[in-house]
Amino acid sequence: MPNDPNPEIQSRAAVLREALNHHNHRYHVLDDPEISDAEYDRLLQELVSLETRWPQLVTTDSPTQRVGAPPLEKFESVAHSLPMQSLDNAFSEEDVRGFEKRIRRQLALEEPLDFTLEPKMDGVAVELVYRDGLLALASTRGDGIRGEVITANVRTIPAVPLRLSPVGNQVPALLEVRAEVFIHRDAFEQLNRERIACDLPAFANARNAAAGSLRQLDSKVTAQRPLALFCYGIGHLEGTMPATQGEILDRLRSAGLPVNPLVRTRQSIEAALAFYRELEVRRPELPYDIDGMVIKVDRVDYQERLGATTRSPRWAIAFKFKAVQATTRLDGIEVQVGRTGTLTPVAHLAPVEVGGVVVSRATLHNQDEIDRKDIRVGDTVLVQRAGDVIPEVVKVVAAKRSGAETRFKMPDGCPDCRSAVVQLKGEIALRCVNADCPAQIKERIRHFASKKAFDIDGLGRKIVAQLVDKGLVKSFPDLFGLEVETLAGLERLAEKSARNLVDAINASRKIDLDRFIFALGIRHVGEHAARLMAREFGTWEKLADARLEDLEAIDGIGPIVGQSLVSFCSQETNRRMMQSLLARGLELVAPAESNTSTDGLAGKTFVITGTLAGMTRRQAKEAVEAAGGKVTGSVSRKTNFLVAGEAPGSKYAKAESLGVVILNESEFRRLLETPVEAGPS
Ligand code: IVH
Repeated sequence: MPNDPNPEIQSRAAVLREALNHHNHRYHVLDDPEISDAEYDRLLQELVSLETRWPQLVTTDSPTQRVGAPPLEKFESVAHSLPMQSLDNAFSEEDVRGFEKRIRRQLALEEPLDFTLEPKMDGVAVELVYRDGLLALASTRGDGIRGEVITANVRTIPAVPLRLSPVGNQVPALLEVRAEVFIHRDAFEQLNRERIACDLPAFANARNAAAGSLRQLDSKVTAQRPLALFCYGIGHLEGTMPATQGEILDRLRSAGLPVNPLVRTRQSIEAALAFYRELEVRRPELPYDIDGMVIKVDRVDYQERLGATTRSPRWAIAFKFKAVQATTRLDGIEVQVGRTGTLTPVAHLAPVEVGGVVVSRATLHNQDEIDRKDIRVGDTVLVQRAGDVIPEVVKVVAAKRSGAETRFKMPDGCPDCRSAVVQLKGEIALRCVNADCPAQIKERIRHFASKKAFDIDGLGRKIVAQLVDKGLVKSFPDLFGLEVETLAGLERLAEKSARNLVDAINASRKIDLDRFIFALGIRHVGEHAARLMAREFGTWEKLADARLEDLEAIDGIGPIVGQSLVSFCSQETNRRMMQSLLARGLELVAPAESNTSTDGLAGKTFVITGTLAGMTRRQAKEAVEAAGGKVTGSVSRKTNFLVAGEAPGSKYAKAESLGVVILNESEFRRLLETPVEAGPS
């Protein structure tokens, strides 16, 4: 019989539980941690070891219970106590004005009408049931009447409180919360990178990834997925219902549930439309996908009078954003060779407008993707673009098939140099391994000369192609030996342009070390990694001699990036190429001497407080660090800037009293673009 823990141990476990739940809320809901990840892990480990020794200490709201439960055979189904309805859509401002007119008519209302406005999260609807403050049940929307029980999966989502905070000293006996589960864009991209590295199919979009993650029978898998959520409503509540939608959201927020900070209340439909336009502009820079704005009548008594149809409430409407998807015909598939030899199938499309841009090409990623989506030449396809991302084919419109479509198969050889292609272990992509492949050389040179690298004006695609095809340029050093007479002999290059190009090449000889590292086009070494390496090592020679462990010791550099650099530097051909490149009189400027705007926050200390609308606090921190600055948790005389979002709290007053420069979000963004001098140096 295992002995019971003594009262001291019991109270220690309670203290740890409380502290961990508190820090979890600070981190995942408020985005404002008070302790480091390492400190959090230490507390968690202490609780884990107490609970392992005395299992009777485990409570349902213990933070140790988020890691996932034993796998299920199948999902149980459960009836929602109130149906989870859908929303009517509006596609134009006229539709929205019509919505307001109908409401006014039904309510026979002349006086002003308030609306609560919420970004429409593009995720998966869930219901969370809290009994006496404890998360008791979570379910999917299902058909709106019955959903599937996914409690174990939802418990793994860090932003979901397992126990509600009391509001006004009270915890309701029953609270049903309606929420949308989603995945942040950067976490989604990271997830797909990891999947591709493990040879698993990538998710088509963040919504699918969220839905797939929630429908796992094994909640340990869900626990590995970067799920987040925002709450937007209440189903059943035992207790008094707040009078307005705005107050409902405040209540949820006070109970510790995450609510989107971009929610607004406006006093007229025209003001609501103005906020829609603002949201549409901000949409590309939001850290998650939204597909519109939900407009809700603010007063709950009005909502009740308006009621609902069988499908949707009459008091709310979803004003959708312009589609970023469109259908068109796929005319052909071309295989492109990238600078590291990767073969990418690219779709040629009948030009079509997608979200305001004409698209005629889209990536098809690889053969697996083509097979999975069963894409054939001649198909009608759905294409989508998201922000600056390369357009992609989402799916085939199978109903439009005539039977004349042809299947596509990736070639056995490189489409450019005809050498054999290989599929490296752990990779889906095919690769041309001929380092002298002209297509690869062209791409490497183009990357080398691009804006973020050597920034050589006038060295466009057509000129590079001629230089490589004529054998004038085989590798980077050859660029620096080009003469005006040779260049003037090329097609489309007059003597004057040839001279300008030589001048541009000469001027590029002096270059910041980070841009230089990036220009080499080493696999996985992007701009950010290059900047970190330049800052750490200061010279190319030191970096070239770095060991894997030196690289991995840099915060932000992982084993894949580190290994890639080490193997690049260890290859004899690359060593020789570097020697001859440096012999061409390049001048590499160490980060301290350089004065690029990206490092312009060096030595500056920031504190970030309150909720930022367009980025998470972590993104803000990374942006400051990428620009060479530092972010700390508390305001002192050493602080240069306080970045204040909404509801900034006590740090604001402290910064004011110390005379620290206070920036709002847009000032902060401007500073990141063009740093200025301010505060103590
Ligand atoms: S309210 C009775 N608010 O959109 C009203 N829904 O098309 C029910 N959604 O199933 C929905 N963000 O999954 C509401 N701020 C928001 C929302 C939102 C996303 C989703 C939700 C719902 C679907 C309706």
